[in-house]
Amino acid sequence: MTSQTDSLIFLPTILLFLIASTTLINHTQSQTQEQSSNYDLCPPFNCSNITFSFPFSRSSSFGSAQFDCGLPGFQITCDHSSSIPSSIEFSGRHYQVKQLFLSDLLVTVVDHTLINDIKLGSCTSLENLTNSISNGTVGGGAALALPVGGVNLTVFKCPIALPSRFFNEVVGNYSCKDGNYSAYIWGGTGTRRPVGPLEMPIGCEHVSLPVSGASLPLLASNNITNGSGDGSQTLLAQVLSNGFQLGWPNITDCDVCQMRGGRCGFDGSSRGIVCFCQGGCIK
Ligand SMILES: *[C@@H]1O[C@H](CO)[C@@H](O)[C@H](O)[C@H]1NC(C)=O
Ligand SMILES: *[C@@H]1O[C@H](CO)[C@@H](O)[C@H](O)[C@H]1NC(C)=O
Ligand SMILES: *[C@@H]1O[C@H](CO)[C@@H](O)[C@H](O)[C@H]1NC(C)=O
Ligand SMILES: *[C@@H]1O[C@H](CO)[C@@H](O)[C@H](O)[C@H]1NC(C)=O
Ligand SMILES: *[C@@H]1O[C@H](CO)[C@@H](O)[C@H](O)[C@H]1NC(C)=O
Ligand SMILES: *[C@@H]1O[C@H](CO)[C@@H](O)[C@H](O)[C@H]1NC(C)=O
Ligand SMILES: *[C@@H]1O[C@H](CO)[C@@H](O)[C@H](O)[C@H]1NC(C)=O
Ligand SMILES: *[C@@H]1O[C@H](CO)[C@@H](O)[C@H](O)[C@H]1NC(C)=O
Ligand SMILES: *[C@@H]1O[C@H](CO)[C@@H](O)[C@H](O)[C@H]1NC(C)=O
Ligand SMILES: *[C@@H]1O[C@H](CO)[C@@H](O)[C@H](O)[C@H]1NC(C)=O
Repeated sequence: MTSQTDSLIFLPTILLFLIASTTLINHTQSQTQEQSSNYDLCPPFNCSNITFSFPFSRSSSFGSAQFDCGLPGFQITCDHSSSIPSSIEFSGRHYQVKQLFLSDLLVTVVDHTLINDIKLGSCTSLENLTNSISNGTVGGGAALALPVGGVNLTVFKCPIALPSRFFNEVVGNYSCKDGNYSAYIWGGTGTRRPVGPLEMPIGCEHVSLPVSGASLPLLASNNITNGSGDGSQTLLAQVLSNGFQLGWPNITDCDVCQMRGGRCGFDGSSRGIVCFCQGGCIK
């Protein structure tokens, strides 16, 4: 009986795949049965101290039915026994979700793999994360990405000692324990940006890491004179533990659904956003 009072509304969306209107009608007719259970299955959920809702959903249930509570690529693994209770995976790496700003379409994540490697003096996972993040995420069109204007920290991996004329731009350095490299942490994120275009020390590899703007004062207070060795590893680990932000596009169809009292979801077969309504949504 409830299936007749509830209505399931499919929303075409330009953010996700375009769906022919005939397909939409077919889906609406064949899937009306699902509706109220889907609304009930998709409440906001808490993991550690964060409350998640669409476009996020639990990784434990994602893909197990035609309908999901979140978009692909936005799955939260919730494990309270782990040191990283709420995590999200992208570009082949697990990140801690530290904070969520749903209305600003932003999430703060922390890369503990990289932090642990740096604490151990390893430079292997010091790689261009800004590139792999921009590439790595797929979400049927709506993907997590670095926000425009985000702060990137530059670290140079150099096989040779850096010439002294660069010292003013460096806020810390340490020798990599797993190679004949030293890592030089650049101050040029805004606070001590070198005049003119960034000059690339010859032979060094330019590694770009997304960081939080809140880390800039911490970086600015250090320099190569007092920032060499263990202190620099600690400094870099501290900066990275503040995390960095990722954003996702505004999904207008979902705003409309929520304003009408529904909960948004994802239809794995049409790959479109759906609106789950309980007792019928407000017209
Ligand atoms: C989730 O956390 C919020 C805020 O801490 C709290 O108000 C709410 O009751 C919690 N919800 C559940 C289902 O535990
Ligand atoms: C949640 O807890 C973690 C550490 O347990 C903390 O870093 C983070 O800031 C907290 N987030 C919120 C939204 O309070
Ligand atoms: C998203 O779109 C809705 C409706 O168009 C608007 O009210 C809202 O302010 C937008 N949110 C952001 C963060 O841009
Ligand atoms: C940081 O890197 C990303 C990815 O390359 C880029 O989109 C963004 O504009 C950069 N931010 C700044 C301030 O340069
Ligand atoms: C990112 O994508 C570009 C263009 O598709 C490609 O050239 C580059 O190698 C990719 N980078 C990574 C780290 O996958
Ligand atoms: C770095 O620290 C030394 C010693 O405290 C100081 O003399 C020097 O001016 C500092 N350099 C920069 C660029 O802040
Ligand atoms: C930091 O860089 C300076 C200048 O190249 C060098 O003298 C020092 O040995 C380096 N320290 C480490 C730990 O690599
Ligand atoms: C580092 O350089 C030394 C001498 O050039 C060489 O013997 C050693 O194999 C190198 N180690 C690594 C890990 O590349
Ligand atoms: C890393 O990214 C930066 C900025 O996007 C780029 O200038 C640099 O060449 C890249 N380094 C490598 C090794 O790909
Ligand atoms: C580095 O040294 C300067 C000057 O001695 C000091 O003001 C600053 O706090 C130190 N920075 C760190 C991170 O220890």
